[in-house]
Amino acid sequence: MSPHPDTRILHTAEGAQDHATPLTRPIYATSTFVFASAAEIEAYQQGTSDQYLYSRYANPSVQAVEDKLAAIEGAEAALVTSSGMAAVATALFGLLRAGDELLCSSAVYGGTFHLVSDVLQRFGVSVRFVPMADLGAIDRIAGPAARAVWFESPINPTLRCVDIAATAAACRSKGLVSILDSTFASPVNQRPLALGVDLVMHSATKYLNGHSDVTAGALAGSRTLIDRLQGARKFFGGVLDPMAGYALARGMKTLGLRVARQNDSAMRVARWCEGHRRVARVFYPGLPSHPDHDVAVRQMSGFGGMVTIDIGDGYEAACRVFDRLKLIQRAASLGGVESLCSLPLLTSQYGLSDDQLVAAGVTRGMMRFSIGLEHPDDLIADLEQALA
Ligand SMILES: Cc1ncc(COP(=O)(O)O)c(C=O)c1O
Repeated sequence: MSPHPDTRILHTAEGAQDHATPLTRPIYATSTFVFASAAEIEAYQQGTSDQYLYSRYANPSVQAVEDKLAAIEGAEAALVTSSGMAAVATALFGLLRAGDELLCSSAVYGGTFHLVSDVLQRFGVSVRFVPMADLGAIDRIAGPAARAVWFESPINPTLRCVDIAATAAACRSKGLVSILDSTFASPVNQRPLALGVDLVMHSATKYLNGHSDVTAGALAGSRTLIDRLQGARKFFGGVLDPMAGYALARGMKTLGLRVARQNDSAMRVARWCEGHRRVARVFYPGLPSHPDHDVAVRQMSGFGGMVTIDIGDGYEAACRVFDRLKLIQRAASLGGVESLCSLPLLTSQYGLSDDQLVAAGVTRGMMRFSIGLEHPDDLIADLEQALA
């Protein structure tokens, strides 16, 4: 049997040696690793040893998270980064070169939108935004320079769902790398690789960590793709700190339990909101009234912890309800144990014109909830008093 990777030799006061095998992976708080000889370094450089050299390349506390993530995504390999945006940048800059075209869903996270439209294009990569409805027929749209397709499902804040298998199949038929930002679903509710996607991305800041105390990102896919992106991460430098790696690994231990409870509570909240006279519309993929309910039923095993409502009377009315919340906290971000509420008009869709809001399906009276782990009765009571 090979020794446990974290078995450490402890030196006792008497100088004797003792072995300690921790249950949890320790925090390897080190920027560099010690070698016994030149021959050991040579073996490392030739790829014939599994030693670590330098924490920007790899670190055991971070590697532990990557192995765990690969297992839960059903991937050959995974990579974690210092933020979700570092994962987006590592993927796009690692895969594309000047002259390539990226096809990007027009409904993506604002940071991704700015990175591809303001930054990527400066490096000679052209970007074409594709309406969500056309993603399943991307093979008919893609030109000769197209290399990759970036899309997201469910989409913020309407929770519209793209047919992932159809989009991935269309990409494959044209030799395009399909990349899905699956942050809103978490790996518990959606298995993009099994649906044919090449690369799955997460803002691990959200459900994977789950405690709103770490900023991190993740990518998972084939060994070939991840090896290529590991090179990009090494040189862009967007690595996760070992302390954050430890916190992320600890959060991931309860991912399944947390998300199962969030799915149940969100469904209860969504149903309750649908029956409330002041709520004009509820957006939740688990409700038959959601435009993509059928797609969600086909490709998700749970409908997630995000619920959006439109209280109908516009922005001022939404602000009044927002300001009256007591238990649910007013904050951006999502996926943590504390329930949060944000107004898309003040966060993800801030500064958009009326036409852009219509295109994104966002109304002035929208409120977005990230359902946490509080008792659903308490969440509903808070909503009831805020809406009263
Ligand atoms: C869907 C989605 N993708 C990517 C990101 C970026 O992640 P991070 O904030 O961890 O960089 C976010 C952040 O809100 C997000 O919601």
